[in-house]
Amino acid sequence: MKLEEIERICVLGAGTMGAGIAQTCSQAGYQVTMRDLTEEFVESGFERIRVPLERRVRRGKMAQEDVDEIISHIRGTTSLEEAVRGADFVIEAVFEEMGVKKEVYQEIDQLCPPEVVFASNTSSLSVTEMASATSRPDRFLGMHFFNPAPVMKLIELIKGSETSDETMALARDLSFRLGKEPVVVKESAGFVVNRLLVPMMNEAFNLLMEGVATAEDIDKAMKLGTNMPMGPFELADFTGLDVGLAVMEVLYEETGDPRFRPSPLLRQYVRAKRLGRKVGRGVYDYRGD
Ligand SMILES: NC(=O)c1ccc[n+]([C@@H]2O[C@H](COP(=O)([O-])OP(=O)(O)OC[C@H]3O[C@@H](n4cnc5c(N)ncnc54)[C@H](O)[C@@H]3O)[C@@H](O)[C@H]2O)c1
Repeated sequence: MKLEEIERICVLGAGTMGAGIAQTCSQAGYQVTMRDLTEEFVESGFERIRVPLERRVRRGKMAQEDVDEIISHIRGTTSLEEAVRGADFVIEAVFEEMGVKKEVYQEIDQLCPPEVVFASNTSSLSVTEMASATSRPDRFLGMHFFNPAPVMKLIELIKGSETSDETMALARDLSFRLGKEPVVVKESAGFVVNRLLVPMMNEAFNLLMEGVATAEDIDKAMKLGTNMPMGPFELADFTGLDVGLAVMEVLYEETGDPRFRPSPLLRQYVRAKRLGRKVGRGVYDYRGD
């Protein structure tokens, strides 16, 4: 498969990432199908796309016709068969569970012609293991987008043990077509960004637990001292404390390295359901906002 041959992209999952990836592909001129398990999930995927775009229209930054155009190239469906029919490239963004992902890959492997490349947006799971559920491990890679997908420039391209150079080249070309900047990463826990960023956030929880400084001062120190646009706790609240903890657990499990031990305070906050902005409370309280 060559970049010029790609016309239709299938996105599996219409959650935070799936919807953002579908929007990104549509904006780059592709025909997109977006599949989720129920009509409600598909519809909320469209809402995730529509609401921020319509906010831009209200602020005069975008024309309503452009929003309609983006939406019109995305077809929502609950049928897997319909989702992959005619697709030249599949990007999967379903739940971060190996069992769920393998099941999806086994099914689509039967439905898609052999030349179709499969890309997983996994944050932490083994691309090699997912690829082993298919008959095309050479045409399988990780394409790790960042949230929000339409805005964030980076895609980490993850090469599994069997991924071919042709597949990596195609994904690289596609990333540029989507207006992104790819970096190539060998399969390893946390890839590059999460391996560096999440342990830094984890260590901020250790500092807080030890009473070294207040949460506000830890955030202030990192923003003013390193020019980070958000402090580690603001970032943890934005991305979700549960997501951060899950990444630390994978890093710790895969490497056994004590540097990656999840902070007890981070774990305690997750147990207390202080998951961040999405529930109104994490390190900080947003319930009055
Ligand atoms: N949230 C992030 O910041 C982020 C960033 C990069 C990568 N990721 C990865 O992206 C993937 C999706 O994460 P998310 O945050 O969008 O999760 P999410 O929970 O918001 O969305 C997942 C969606 O997948 C759907 N789904 C489950 N099984 C399905 C199936 N068989 N077919 C179609 N849809 C199915 C669910 O109904 C749900 O709507 C995960 O692998 C995650 O690790 C997440």
